[in-house]
Parts: sequence; structure tokens; C-alpha cells
Amino acid sequence: MGKLIDGDDGLPAEEVGVWAKDKHDRLRRYLDISRGARRNFLEGRSRSATYVDLFSGTGRGRVRDTEEWIDGSAVVAWNISREGGAPFSDIYIADKNAACRQTAAERLRRLGAPVRELTGSAVDAARELLRYINPYGLHFAFLDPYSLGALDFEIIRSLATLRRIDMLVHISKMDHQRNLRINLAADASALDRFVPGWRQRIDTDRSESVIRGQIVEYWQELVERTGKRPSTDWDLITGLQGQHLYWLLLVADSDLAHRFWKAATDDGQSSFGF
Ligand SMILES: C[S@@+](CC[C@H](N)C(=O)[O-])C[C@H]1O[C@@H](n2cnc3c(N)ncnc32)[C@H](O)[C@@H]1O
Repeated sequence: MGKLIDGDDGLPAEEVGVWAKDKHDRLRRYLDISRGARRNFLEGRSRSATYVDLFSGTGRGRVRDTEEWIDGSAVVAWNISREGGAPFSDIYIADKNAACRQTAAERLRRLGAPVRELTGSAVDAARELLRYINPYGLHFAFLDPYSLGALDFEIIRSLATLRRIDMLVHISKMDHQRNLRINLAADASALDRFVPGWRQRIDTDRSESVIRGQIVEYWQELVERTGKRPSTDWDLITGLQGQHLYWLLLVADSDLAHRFWKAATDDGQSSFGF
């Protein structure tokens, strides 16, 4: 994670790359476009529309090159839900770094958000969440780790047991490109968590770009086995020099959610290429 610094509100914050603004823009747009669907679940019998952020960070960041202060994902989500007149009924946050999680929770409490903290790693937090969350509600999860290894497939398996959940997922293209050889060679690697069972499926004699493509395809297959669908639109977030950093994509089972994602992404073009 980025270096912790003193925030402009007296709480710790992170240093972030300018591309964090693109990521938050997609999150904000999706949550804004989907507010009507959320409102139905705030008024209906279940009265439950939840935001889940299992890699919350501190909730505030300063852009490295411009020194601009920006909100972190959970704060962005709460604010846009409130501004759109369909505030989340519950917010669950987790971060392996307890100080980051506690700081984000404090920021949310200051804004009047109904926040609950889940302790431990995202895998543990996702399991714990299932004990509290309303199974009849409409839920949204943001999965925003820096690395492939932190996106343990168990997280998606747990969340996918909920009937109505949309997940906005960050997959690190940079990690996939830079560390492929290391991951293929290691006895226990990030790939065992990201795509469990890959050793039986991936032909490691092929070129690196073919292997990378096979791994991403296999990940999508694993998602489909949970009963949810990965979007065909993978939004590529790039760095200042145009370097490929990560994809954002939606995992959901409703056609409506996929239409919302298409509308929330810039041009609706998919950005594959391994
Ligand atoms: C990209 S940052 C999150 C930024 C935040 N979502 C935002 O947009 O403001 C990733 C965070 O994941 C946390 N993290 C890394 N591995 C984790 C794990 N296995 N479980 C939970 N949190 C983890 C790090 O401590 C870090 O705060």
C-alpha cells in the first residue's frame, strides 16, 4: 500500500497515484447509475442495500504528483449514495491493516455512515460478513487489492453465495505481467489463491501472453461456476505514461447490473490484451 501520511482532517491517509481518481470515478458512476435499483431495496420488505469494501484503505488519500486530497473508496461510495437519495443501509469495511480499517471507519462515522468493521484479511472478512448480512438485500462489494495474490478466490466464492450481489473487481494487470514467471515457478504462489486449480489447466509450455490469457479465461470460468458472470467490459486503468496498471470489471448475475456497468465505463469497449 502507499505510504501513510498525516491527512488534511487530522487522521492518517495514504499517498496514491493519480489513477486512483479514475478508479473512484468508475465506482462513483456505477453507484450513481444504480441508485434506482438500490432505492427499491431500501423501501421494500428487506430494507437492505449494503456496501462492502474488503480492501478499504484509510478512506482518504493525497495524489502523489499533484498533492490533491481525495476521498477513499468507502467514503466515495457513502457520499454518492447519500447525494443520490439512496444511502446504503449498511457499510461493511475490512483491511488487513487494522489501523487503515479503523481510520476509514472513523471517517465514515464522522459522516454519519452506518459502518461496521470486519476484522482480519479479506478472506476472513468475507466469511464473517455472511453471518450478518441480510440474504434478501441488494448488495455491492468493491474488491480493490493491489496484487493478484490478495484477490483470493475464496472471497468471491463466499460473496457469490449471496443472491443479489454485484462486485466491482480490481485485477492487477501489472502484477500479472511482471510476476508471471515467478508465480509459475513457485511451489505455492499468488496464482494458487487467485485461480485455484490452475496447475491442472494451464499449459505452461506456451508463450507468456498465451499463458496470461489462459489464466484470465480460467478465472472467468471459476467466476461462472459460482453462478455469477464477469462483465465483458474490462476497463483498463493506466498510469501517467500509459502503462497498463489494472482492469476493473463487474461480477454480477443480473442483466441490469451489467447494463449499469456498461454505462459506467467510458466507451463500453472491452480492454483485453494480455
Ligand atoms: C488499493 S488499496 C485500497 C484502496 C481503497 N480501496 C481506495 O480506493 O481508497 C489496498 C488495500 O488492501 C489492503 N490489503 C492488502 N492485502 C489484503 C488482504 N489480504 N485482505 C484485506 N486487505 C488487504 C492494504 O492494506 C491496502 O490498504
